[in-house]
Amino acid sequence: MRILVIGSGGREHALVWKLAQSAKVSKIYAAPGNPGIAELAECVQLDLTNLSAVADFAQQQAIDLTVVGPEATLVAGIVDVFQARGLNIFGPSKLAAQIEGSKGFAKDLMAKYNIPTAAFGVFYDADSAKKYIQEQGAPIVVKADGLAAGKGVIVAMTEAEALEAIDKIMLDSEFGQAGASVVIEEYLAGEEASLLAFTDGKTIVPMVAAQDHKRIFDADQGPNTGGMGTYAPAPVLTPELQQLCLDTVLVPTIKAMAAEGCPYVGCLYAGLMITKQGIKVIEFNARFGDPETQVIMPLLASDLAEVLLACAQGRLQDVEVKWNNQAAVCVVMAAQGYPAADYRKNEPISGLESVKQLENATVFHAGTGISAEQLVTTGGRVLGVVGCAQDLRAAKDLAYQAVEKINFTGQHYRKDIAWRALK
Ligand code: AMP
Ligand code: GLY
Repeated sequence: MRILVIGSGGREHALVWKLAQSAKVSKIYAAPGNPGIAELAECVQLDLTNLSAVADFAQQQAIDLTVVGPEATLVAGIVDVFQARGLNIFGPSKLAAQIEGSKGFAKDLMAKYNIPTAAFGVFYDADSAKKYIQEQGAPIVVKADGLAAGKGVIVAMTEAEALEAIDKIMLDSEFGQAGASVVIEEYLAGEEASLLAFTDGKTIVPMVAAQDHKRIFDADQGPNTGGMGTYAPAPVLTPELQQLCLDTVLVPTIKAMAAEGCPYVGCLYAGLMITKQGIKVIEFNARFGDPETQVIMPLLASDLAEVLLACAQGRLQDVEVKWNNQAAVCVVMAAQGYPAADYRKNEPISGLESVKQLENATVFHAGTGISAEQLVTTGGRVLGVVGCAQDLRAAKDLAYQAVEKINFTGQHYRKDIAWRALK
């Protein structure tokens, strides 16, 4: 099988790493990829805003399966362009990707099909949004409707904060068109978990549950980030709760999408809050999580290429998805200044060779580049350092053992990944 992976982050490195282990995979291209991915795949520069040029490449290179990482490319409609040419692609269509691309779409879908989620309203002007906030009081959550690179959610502990968020999103247009409308929702208290699932639009198979650490500092302090670390399995999602998620969230969502005329194929990512009142959906993502994928892939015992191709071809029912009984922990090493936009860049990275001597430790590149033949930092989240072992504690120890070997100026990382499971 010849495979093309779209994207350049740690998530894509983890997907390529797992795909490369398949005996059925003969060649992997990544567009654009990164220096870590380049050790396993051929990185190519394609204009990802020109979807027909990407499809031309897939045809010219006789690609058997394309796997899409980032949501923006899905929301732009890459799947529709590939399918129109009869090319196999793993991911939702443009319409189905609205489950992430429009929070209003996702909330309306959940309301219509009784999928448990926070109570909400959708607003198209600032005055009615503010009136609703004043009626509901705080704490309350304000969300820009569209894609805002993970920054469009404000969890407001006071009414003033919520009103200020409306000004920023709707009057100052901080997120552009993504903030033309807002979802305002009930604040949910509880513990979060990420449940991702493979689906071909009819059959849905959950992956091992994971937990992300969104705040920059230990003990969940400081601003939100793209995710500072993950672990899997997440014991908070007990087998009973996982079954409940399957029955009340994943299966009903797949049925709802099909009933709405936009069957959902790809990875469906349910961001869940486990509240005292039960499980509620915080959000759906139309793609693999980052850095969830970095801990889920090492636990997958099945051939990823086979599973993804079966999803793309509507025959997931025929494939057995198996997991090993291990645990994985990912520690994200970030650049100085992250999550602010002006983080430090171009710092040489050392120590990756010595991590290769640690069995079952893997470094996924997220924000790296090559400058003057030296590996350097280019992104805010630079590396995802993963330990895989028989249990979470051993996996955590291994991940931090690997982190200790790596060095770049200004590096920072959380020291408490997996704390909720190990407390
Ligand atoms: P999102 O970008 O939708 O993942 O939201 C970012 C973070 O905001 C989530 O991971 C939660 O920690 C938090 N959040 C979102 N919605 C709610 C809610 N209704 N109640 C409490 N926290 C929320
Ligand atoms: N880890 C959060 C996300 O992928 O959205």
